[in-house]
Amino acid sequence: MDHRPRPSKSCKRIQAWLVLAACGCFSNLLLSPSARGQEPARTSRKQHLARLPDSVPAPKNNPTTAAKVDLGKQLFFDPRLSGNNKTSCASCHFPTRAFTDHRTTARGQQGKSLSRNTPTVLNTGLFKHLFWDGRANSLEQQALLPIRSPVEMNQGLAALETELNAVPGYAGQFRRVFKSDVTQTGIARALAAFQRTLISEPSPLDRFLAGDEKALSEEARRGLEAFRSSAGCIRCHNGPLLSDGKFYRIGVSWKDKGRQSVTGKPGDAFRFRTPSLRNVALTAPYMHDGSQKTLEEVVTFYYRSVPTTTPDGIPLDVEPLLGNSFSEISDMVAFLKALSSKPLQVTPPRLP
Ligand code: HEC
Ligand code: HEC
Repeated sequence: MDHRPRPSKSCKRIQAWLVLAACGCFSNLLLSPSARGQEPARTSRKQHLARLPDSVPAPKNNPTTAAKVDLGKQLFFDPRLSGNNKTSCASCHFPTRAFTDHRTTARGQQGKSLSRNTPTVLNTGLFKHLFWDGRANSLEQQALLPIRSPVEMNQGLAALETELNAVPGYAGQFRRVFKSDVTQTGIARALAAFQRTLISEPSPLDRFLAGDEKALSEEARRGLEAFRSSAGCIRCHNGPLLSDGKFYRIGVSWKDKGRQSVTGKPGDAFRFRTPSLRNVALTAPYMHDGSQKTLEEVVTFYYRSVPTTTPDGIPLDVEPLLGNSFSEISDMVAFLKALSSKPLQVTPPRLP
């Protein structure tokens, strides 16, 4: 999936540019791939930063209720969801680590390292596509995948239904919440409902956006300015999540084909979903493979080390921001640190 307009639409494009220019609707040219004959990437005022909503809308077939959320919370913390009854969702998404694990890549069954870094589940109710490669289209669809995965929780779903039906506390709750026995659909719906309630607290950026000028340090305000304009980060990191939810190739590494493994399109090779930047100071290490350890390293990557193409010569969706000073790098880091909020207090539940 390429998100830039195709050259065949050039007339419409020029018109659009004129309209935008006339109303001053875009502010900058940046990370420009124009040297490669492509449409210059640009930011526009449409790409804004926004506060998180207080609640996330649920799909019609899975309305959020207090009893369902409570059940989902128990399931999230329950190691009985895994084949050997040792691994729960919280074994990788630790509430005390902003729902990540601080490992380079996740640790699966028998301590085996998996290939990708564990993202936070905070605010994921706002994403349309889940996982680094976007292969799940809802939290309901996502929830059963780690349970079934032989390298993650390694639990057959029919066996899990039998196991939980034998726990009177679960059987009773499923009857009350879903009017049925324990089913895999119910398990997925309860886990999704619980995760939809995990919305992070306001960050200094949110207070700043609400009008409190002092919420950001001077450094962070300069970082925000560069983020929105000269550095062009907002082109992909925008909206309440600071992610557009789309897929890009930014050149982190060449081992994992990312989005291509979902769509089968060679043009999607090495593309990953733009991660949310909420709580990013608390979710190190970074990138799909956890290869970048600190925010300084990530920002320096954008400013100094983004490669020009893939090893096969495919262009990337970003270019290095050369010619910027080290103070801009530290301003940007200060801004990224202002995107974190007070950790959400989630007390592990009593399991039935
Ligand atoms: C072994 C560690 C591990 C366990 C156990 C685990 N996860 Fe994950 N989780 C991961 C990793 C790694 C990813 C990213 C995988 C990818 O993108 O391919 C992920 C991704 C996710 C995402 C998508 C986040 C996003 O930004 O798109 C959600 C939601 C999630 N997990 C919820 C759960 C739930 C619910 C459970 C329990 C049923 C669970 N996880 C169990 C490691 C784990
Ligand atoms: C073309 C879209 C795009 C632009 C522009 C962009 N990013 Fe990203 N960003 C991504 C994608 C995609 C990833 C994940 C890449 C991967 O894992 O391979 C990412 C990852 C990150 C991460 C790591 C987050 C995590 O949880 O692992 C940070 C921090 C970040 N970007 C900050 C920035 C900053 C600061 C800028 C501007 C200098 C910027 N980004 C510009 C798309 C973009």
